[in-house]
Amino acid sequence: MSKKQAKETQTKAVGLITLTDPSSPVSEQYRTIRTNIQFASSVDRRLQTMVVTSSGPGEGKSTTSANLAVVFAKSGQRVLLVDADMRKPTVFKTFQLNNAKGLSTVLSTSQNALEVCQPTVVENLHVLTSGPKPPNPSELLGSQRMNQVIAELKQTYDMIIFDMPPVITVTDAQIMASKVDGTLLVIRENVTNKESITKAKEALTLVKAHILGTVYNGATQAKDQGYYYY
Ligand SMILES: Nc1ncnc2c1ncn2[C@@H]1O[C@H](COP(=O)(O)OP(=O)(O)OP(=O)(O)O)[C@@H](O)[C@H]1O
Ligand SMILES: [Mg+2]
Repeated sequence: MSKKQAKETQTKAVGLITLTDPSSPVSEQYRTIRTNIQFASSVDRRLQTMVVTSSGPGEGKSTTSANLAVVFAKSGQRVLLVDADMRKPTVFKTFQLNNAKGLSTVLSTSQNALEVCQPTVVENLHVLTSGPKPPNPSELLGSQRMNQVIAELKQTYDMIIFDMPPVITVTDAQIMASKVDGTLLVIRENVTNKESITKAKEALTLVKAHILGTVYNGATQAKDQGYYYY
C-alpha cells in the first residue's frame, strides 16, 4: 500500500457544522433537508429508517449522515446513527466514542443492540459504532440477524440513519437500501460524474430502494465548509 493509499484508508472525523455553527447557511441547509424528509414521511409510508450513500468514495456520506442525525435529534426526535460502513468507519471518531463494540459485534453475537448503542454529546442522539472490522461486512448486513436488529431498534428510536459505503464499489448499501424506508444519494460537486450517478441509481432501483432524493454537497466556500442543497 502506498503512503497515499494508507492516508486515504485512515479513519477521520468529519465536520459537525450543525454543532459548531448551527446558525450558518450550511446548517440551515441540513435543516431544510430534514424538513423535506419529514414531509416525505406519511401515515401510509412512515419514514423511520434511512440509508445515506453515494456512488463513489469521499463524496460526503458520513458528513451528511452525521449532520442530519444532529438536526433530527435537535428537533426532539430520538435518533440513532448507525455506522454501517464497517470497511471505513468514521462515526466513532466524529463523536469521539469507543469502538470496541458496535454493529459488527451485535451482528455476530446475540448481544442486544440497545446495550451497544452509546449516547453522544447531543441530547436525543445515540450512535451504534461500526465495531471491530469483520471479514464479511456484506454477509453480516444481509443476514436475518440484521432484520431482527432493525426491528428491535425501531421500538426505541424515531429515526435511524445508516451511514454506508459507496453503492457502486460494494454491495453493502444496496443490501441495506432494500431493508429501510428510504435512501438518500449524496452527490459531490466536481467529484461525482453523471455516469456514476446513473449507475448508483440503477443499482438502487434494482433492489427496489425508495430513493428519497439527492443531497447536493457542493460549492466549497471556506476550506471545510460546503453548501448543501437538496
Ligand atoms: N462540501 C464539502 N466541502 C469541503 N469538504 C467536505 C465537504 N463534504 C465533505 N467534505 C470532506 O471530505 C472528506 C470526505 O467526506 P466524508 O467522509 O463525509 O465522505 P464519505 O462519502 O463518507 O467518504 P467515504 O467514501 O470514505 O466513506 C471529509 O474530510 C469531509 O470533511
Ligand atoms: Mg464515510
